[in-house]
Amino acid sequence: MNKLQRCAALFLAGIIFLLSGMPLHAESATEGKLVLGTSADFAPYEFHKTIDGKDTIVGFDIEIAKEIAKDLNKELVIEDMGFDALLPALQSGRVDMVISGMTPTEERRRSIDFSDNYYQSKQIIMVRAADQGRFPTMDSLRGASIGVQKGSIQEEIGQGIPDAKLTSLDKISDIILQLQTNRIDAVIMEDTVAAGYLSDELVLADAVPDTTAVQAAIGIQKGNTELLQSVNETLTRLKNNGDIERMVTEASQLSAGTKDEKALSIWNVFWEYRGFYATGIGYTLLLSALGVLFGFIIGLFICLIRMSGIGIIRWIGSAYVELLRGTPMLVQLMIIHYGLALTFGINLSPLQSGIITLSINSSAYLAEIFRAGIQGVDRGQMEAARSLGMNRGKAMRHIILPQAFKAVLPAIGNEFITIIKESSIISVIGMVEIMYQASVVKNITYQGMSPYLIAAAFYFIMTFGLSKLLGRWERKLSASDIR
Ligand code: ARG
Repeated sequence: MNKLQRCAALFLAGIIFLLSGMPLHAESATEGKLVLGTSADFAPYEFHKTIDGKDTIVGFDIEIAKEIAKDLNKELVIEDMGFDALLPALQSGRVDMVISGMTPTEERRRSIDFSDNYYQSKQIIMVRAADQGRFPTMDSLRGASIGVQKGSIQEEIGQGIPDAKLTSLDKISDIILQLQTNRIDAVIMEDTVAAGYLSDELVLADAVPDTTAVQAAIGIQKGNTELLQSVNETLTRLKNNGDIERMVTEASQLSAGTKDEKALSIWNVFWEYRGFYATGIGYTLLLSALGVLFGFIIGLFICLIRMSGIGIIRWIGSAYVELLRGTPMLVQLMIIHYGLALTFGINLSPLQSGIITLSINSSAYLAEIFRAGIQGVDRGQMEAARSLGMNRGKAMRHIILPQAFKAVLPAIGNEFITIIKESSIISVIGMVEIMYQASVVKNITYQGMSPYLIAAAFYFIMTFGLSKLLGRWERKLSASDIR
């Protein structure tokens, strides 16, 4: 086998390993698991709470889900994501059902089915106490800055207010933070959820967005009548027993307990949530290490393609590099994670999507670094090696590549450091790495600064440590140059 073939084989083996080692959600759904999609920022429906030192998703939606799973004799698995990611997740089969205080609108009914309604609330406007009298009617909100949750019906209401400056965010807690820090004037939300935030600082305005009740129902994939029927049976049982009311009361009490604001110092935050960060660090390291490993292998392969003697092959290599360097990694991640699922039914887990994205993204940069290194080695080296009787492959392996590698080591090191930092982007698809955990801690503690400072410290320790390590290796390698 020549080098190219060997690289290709290694590359394929890597991909097979990546795909086989970790189970797909589509499979797990059939293995006696019921995957629930939710946006756990909506107390008392669903929210995060530390129970026995462990981050847990609780709320009355979760209790309902547990009953449904019990009736189906399946194990409940919860996937937490942004509210606007729920519909695509359900359509693509990433989750089996959505319980997230979701209102069954006509628009949504076009893409998914809904169970019977199980709860209702009212639309309200929340403002800072100082602004209490400022918005007596919906008309007075004209031109105001308004916060809403991305993809929610509140977003639609906001879009209907003339000249309003809309801030649409993933998580309710972030919207509240915007209101508290004077970045927006008002939030459109539901009274059941607002109840948890009302205080001396945050109050209800008199304006009412809509007097009709907001319903909540369970989302099921279109055509899955079997699940729909079973869900409705469970709901009927819970409603008739008064269980739903009890669950709502219990969840409200649980969430009230979350809000007793303690003045936490950054050390307290760190110590109390060290377990969260430890998990995050583990996944960040795993993502970066595998991203680097596969990026390296793919990069080498692409580099050889780019230096091929055949024009069309060279062109393919260039196109690969240019496309990946010319588009944001966030976009690549979305295509791999959601695009592949919705279009081809390839349902990758966040870990798989993360590793694939990091690998192919960094492979493009590494391919260029390798190429620069190889082309930087003096032509005479190849000629000399050939005249000593080595064939091209041998000369490449023993003479050119070692010199090239030494020359580009600092650039490779930089790329590795970049991958560690960029892996934070994977948090947006729900990968539980450092950045994701920092947001979870922020949502629990209502501290806007310390969770991120702690995350920054961890990233810095990792990148600085790596850069020191690489520096030492570089010096060792260059020792042979100084004679
Ligand atoms: N009921 C509203 C809707 O369906 C908001 C639901 C938001 N739910 C959540 N878990 N954040 O659009």
